[in-house]
Amino acid sequence: MNGVKIAFLLGALLIGLASFRNNSVTQYSSAKPPFRADTLKKDAESGLIDAPNLMMVKAQCTACHSSKLILQHRFTRAGWVDRIRWMQKYHKLWDLGESEKVVLDYLETYYGPASMSDKGTFRRPPMKQVKWYKLEP
Ligand code: HEC
Repeated sequence: MNGVKIAFLLGALLIGLASFRNNSVTQYSSAKPPFRADTLKKDAESGLIDAPNLMMVKAQCTACHSSKLILQHRFTRAGWVDRIRWMQKYHKLWDLGESEKVVLDYLETYYGPASMSDKGTFRRPPMKQVKWYKLEP
């Protein structure tokens, strides 16, 4: 009788432990939780995510080249600013004026490093505090 009780308690303990472990799956923390860009509605013409200010982005950013150049990339806000400055310097992109902020808000939100690519692959954020060690021959 006691043996059965102990076995039951052990079983319950194991199930409890197992579910506790399942709940403590590592979660990546980032300022904004990553979302799957491929679940959001797309503009049929450009493939860009259909969100407020899409029209502004299309007007400013698809006049010279295909929207694919945007779709292929994930940059931080600073990275997008760099691209814009580079196009302004070498490719005759105009001064975006007031609309630069609007365009950057859109790009940072939907084409930043935290958003999923169209292929559904997710590049995890860069690792912090990596400890490198030498491999012995
Ligand atoms: C005046 C023309 C013009 C406009 C407008 C323009 N671009 Fe470009 N962009 C270019 C040219 C030219 C290239 C180089 C294309 C190539 O390498 O084949 C380029 C390349 C790019 C690239 C690829 C950069 C890389 O590192 O390879 C991205 C991303 C990009 N543009 C985004 C944008 C965004 C976002 C906007 C809107 C703010 C924009 N473009 C508006 C001319 C323009």
